[in-house]
Amino acid sequence: MTVRSYAKINLGLRIIGKRPDGYHDLVTVFHYIDLYDTLTLTPMETGASMECNREDLPCDDRNLCIRAAKAVLALTGSGGVHIVLGKRIPTGAGLGGGSSNAAAVLRALPVLLGLQVGTDELHSIAAGLGSDVPFFLQDSSTEAHGRGEILRPIDFRSPWWILTVTPDMHVSTAWAYGSLRLGGAAIDSQLTSALARGAADESLLAHALINDFEPTVMERFPEIAALRSRLLASGAIAAAMSGSGSSVYGLYTSEASAAVALERIPSGMTASLTAPGFSPVFIPPLG
Ligand code: C5P
Repeated sequence: MTVRSYAKINLGLRIIGKRPDGYHDLVTVFHYIDLYDTLTLTPMETGASMECNREDLPCDDRNLCIRAAKAVLALTGSGGVHIVLGKRIPTGAGLGGGSSNAAAVLRALPVLLGLQVGTDELHSIAAGLGSDVPFFLQDSSTEAHGRGEILRPIDFRSPWWILTVTPDMHVSTAWAYGSLRLGGAAIDSQLTSALARGAADESLLAHALINDFEPTVMERFPEIAALRSRLLASGAIAAAMSGSGSSVYGLYTSEASAAVALERIPSGMTASLTAPGFSPVFIPPLG
């Protein structure tokens, strides 16, 4: 069974504050883009193993795919799976690739093995694997609260061409959270309505897309700020960082302007373009 594992961007990411458990409460809109890894799952007698086209990625228990597979297999105590991961989503890039891969295993493995696993059970396994994993069990854009696991699917289709660009650098999410300078200013947590207002009036878009990681991450990695400026100079009506970086996305009102911007992306950076109204197809039809 071969399934797709899509990347996301964050359309706005506000940090509400640090919690007693060390995590941060946040509000964000997770939005799928047209960039995906593939996972091919083959049943085995027992255990979970994997291989990957990227040699620098661990294929043992450090990989969220293996942890997700073992969590599902533990529900029955029998059966096994081998996973072949075809990686295209850049890692350490704020695109949720590892979390998406874990959720793809949680979606596909019960189907492959004919197991009945309830939605609540999958959600709780996902939340145990990482704060962003539960979102990737959703099929479309979702507003998230809490540490990212409290989800409210929203009816949002992007009216823009989205150009997502990843410079050749990794930002550690734990470092980015640890370096946040939390201000006392009140935070607008109505991100979805801010986004709707921004879609109707582009002068309001920048406000809707504020990412509270930008000040400290861009101070440490000025190349990311330069990339955002480059997208704005190339005709984007708004541009912002995704997650804790290093990816930046620009929103364009025409395919032509997005295509010109894409052509000008320096070599050494990876880029992908998502058409207006895009929605992901998780398990492509056979044939
Ligand atoms: O949940 P996950 O393992 O993806 O989180 C990685 C790290 O990011 C955590 O150890 C924590 O330091 C930080 N984090 C946070 N608040 C969140 C999500 C993650 O502080 N909402």
